[in-house]
Amino acid sequence: MKLLAIESSCDETAAAVVEDGRLVRSSVIHSQVAEHQQYGGVVPEIASRRHAESIIPVVDKALLDAGVSLGGIDAIAVTYAPGLIGALLVGVNFAKGLALASGKPLVPVHHIRGHIAANYITHPDLEPPFLCLVASGGHSHIVNVRGYTEFEVIGRTRDDAAGEAFDKAARSMGFCYPGGVYIDRAAQSGNPKAYRLPIPRVEGSPFDLSFSGLKTAVVNLVHNASQKGEAIDNNDLAASFQATVCRILTDKLMLAAEHTGARVIVGAGGVCANSGLRTSLQAACDQRGYRLYLPELALCGDNAAMIGAQGYYEAVAGCTASLSLNACATRPI
Ligand code: KG4
Ligand code: ZN
Repeated sequence: MKLLAIESSCDETAAAVVEDGRLVRSSVIHSQVAEHQQYGGVVPEIASRRHAESIIPVVDKALLDAGVSLGGIDAIAVTYAPGLIGALLVGVNFAKGLALASGKPLVPVHHIRGHIAANYITHPDLEPPFLCLVASGGHSHIVNVRGYTEFEVIGRTRDDAAGEAFDKAARSMGFCYPGGVYIDRAAQSGNPKAYRLPIPRVEGSPFDLSFSGLKTAVVNLVHNASQKGEAIDNNDLAASFQATVCRILTDKLMLAAEHTGARVIVGAGGVCANSGLRTSLQAACDQRGYRLYLPELALCGDNAAMIGAQGYYEAVAGCTASLSLNACATRPI
C-alpha cells in the first residue's frame, strides 16, 4: 500500500511517499526555521502562511521523487493533531482536497504516533509492544506502545517539554532558535560536572517529568553571572545542562521499564537526536540487557515519512476519516 503523507504541524512543510509503512520512496521537507530564528521561536501566523505557499511544491516534489502520480497512491495520510492550529489546518485541508479530487481514503495521523513510527522505518524488525520515550519540542511522554494503534501514556511532563527546556536554556546562553543542537555541539567540549543543576522531584505519578525548574536554574545562573560581571563557560554550562536532562530522561525511562517489565526500549522525537541522550540511553539499556531502538538522525525531527509509516498502520486498522476531518491543536495520543 502506497501512502502520500503530509505534515505541517509546526514549522516544517513536509510530504513523503511511503510503502507498507516501512519503505520510504521519497521524503521532502521544507523548513521555515531560518525565518522564525529572527523572532527567537515559531510565529504561528507566519508558519501558516509559509505552509500555504510551500505545500504544493513540496507535495509535487514528493510525488516526482517517488516516480508516482496521485493515481498511483492508495491513501492520503495527514497530521491532524496536535500542533499549531493554523499550521495543521493547511495540511489537513490540502489533504482533504486531494482525497476529494482523487477519491482515495483520507488517513488522519496523530503527530506523536508519527514520531514513534519513525522507528519502523529505521528498524524493519521493530514491532510493538515496547516502551517509548517521546521527547520533542512540544511533548515529553513515556508511552507504553501496546500495538501499532494502541497507546498508553504512563508518564508526561508537568510543565515544559524537554526540547522546550533545551531551547530556552540555549536562548539564555545566547544560541539561536532552536537551540537544542547548539547545546549538543557546545557540550562536546564542556565539563558536565562544572555546574550543579537541580534534578526535579515530581510528586505523585512516579513516571512524570518536569523541566521548568532546571530551565529556570540555567536562566537565573546566566542572569546572576551577568549582573555580577562574571563569565559563564557556555561549553561547561551546556554540558552540565545536557547531562542533567539526559539523567532525568534516562532514569525515568528505566524506572518505567522496570515497572512495566518492558525489555524493548524506543526513543522518538527531536530531542532523541541529542548525542548525549543517545549515549546515555544505550548505556542504561546495555547495563540491563534491554534492546534499544532509536530513529536515524534524519527521522528524529519533524518529517512526513514518519506520518506515512504510522498512516499505513492506521489504514490497516481501518482508521480513515471523512471529508469532515478537522485539525486539533491538542489531543491525547
Ligand atoms: O520533534 P521535533 O522536531 O518537533 C516537535 O514535534 O516539537 O523536536 C524539536 C525539538 C527542538 O526543541 C530542538 O531544539 C530539539 O528537538 N532538538 C535537540 C537536538 N536536535 C533537535 N535537542 C537536543 N539535542 C539535539 N541534538
Ligand atoms: Zn514533532
